[in-house]
Amino acid sequence: MAKKQLVTKVWIEPGCIICDACETTAPDVFEVQHENDTCVIRPAALDAEFNKPRTKAIIDAAEECPVDVIKFDTIEIEVSDAEAAADAAKAPAAASAAGAGAAAAKLEPPKPKEVDPAIQALLAATTVRGGHVVLDRGLEDMPESVRRMAKLSPSELPPDARQAKVLDKSKADTKKEPEGASRRDILGVAGMAAGWAAVATVTGGGTLAFARFMAPNVLEVEDPKVRCGPLSKYVAMAPGDVNEDYKPVKPSGFWIIRQEDRIAALSIICTHLGCIPSWLPNDRKFKCPCHGSGFKENGVNFEGPAPRPLERFKIYLDGDEVIVDRSRKFLAMGPSDTAVWNDPEAYIPV
Ligand code: FES
Repeated sequence: MAKKQLVTKVWIEPGCIICDACETTAPDVFEVQHENDTCVIRPAALDAEFNKPRTKAIIDAAEECPVDVIKFDTIEIEVSDAEAAADAAKAPAAASAAGAGAAAAKLEPPKPKEVDPAIQALLAATTVRGGHVVLDRGLEDMPESVRRMAKLSPSELPPDARQAKVLDKSKADTKKEPEGASRRDILGVAGMAAGWAAVATVTGGGTLAFARFMAPNVLEVEDPKVRCGPLSKYVAMAPGDVNEDYKPVKPSGFWIIRQEDRIAALSIICTHLGCIPSWLPNDRKFKCPCHGSGFKENGVNFEGPAPRPLERFKIYLDGDEVIVDRSRKFLAMGPSDTAVWNDPEAYIPV
């Protein structure tokens, strides 16, 4: 009997750069959400039986992910030699990567390729604005490895087969970009270009974008303070209501919630692994699409693997205007550890 691996669980860790590669490879498992700046696991793929027949596609997607945020668990099963031979014929690359010389050899997922952590950090720190690749933070905030890489010329950057592959797809998509393409399509191509332009040494196609990437005049620093309009706008909300106007704000969006006696700003980052939950007004809860964590309307976690409530940001008044300052957070370490939310800077009384 031979053995083979089947994927039973797949998840996404923080750091997705919304490059679209995983959804292209396994569209029924991954959904890239440009509007939320992340990728989620489709609900059907939370089921082990759904994932098992999609093992190869999931492993391929994990292999192709430029920032290695796709993770999966496998189980090993015994199969007949004939079945192993059929699998090997369908997936010769996977078999050889696992060291199988014969068709009946056991099939194992290929080992993830080494990715330079500096490239990962660099890609994770980039975004696209106005067609330009920009850094979300100044280089001075970057690890030394990233600063070192920023000084290299494109020809000195390390090649990576996965980067070349996605860059090729980016080019192909750009060629067939139709008039009236959706925003999602445009962002998808731009998002890929953002990542690959920085490291496109294989084809040299990213030189121009790379030059923009490195040009000092495109470095941008986000202001942690967000002006959110007059207090009266939030006082008018019913207790329990959630304002979503600032969910898309980069690099860290938030919800403004109205409670009986106060308003507060909740971070939109799930405290499990960093996906972005959705506010479900009919269910009165925030629901994370990645692994099912649920948070009450006040941000307290009550279902799923999230270990603690949604974080809160400093909020205060400037005259009559509400300001949210994302440079200061208030962290409750568990559902009953919310005393920190009574810090005067964590809410505005209404
Ligand atoms: Fe896992 Fe939200 S990231 S439940």
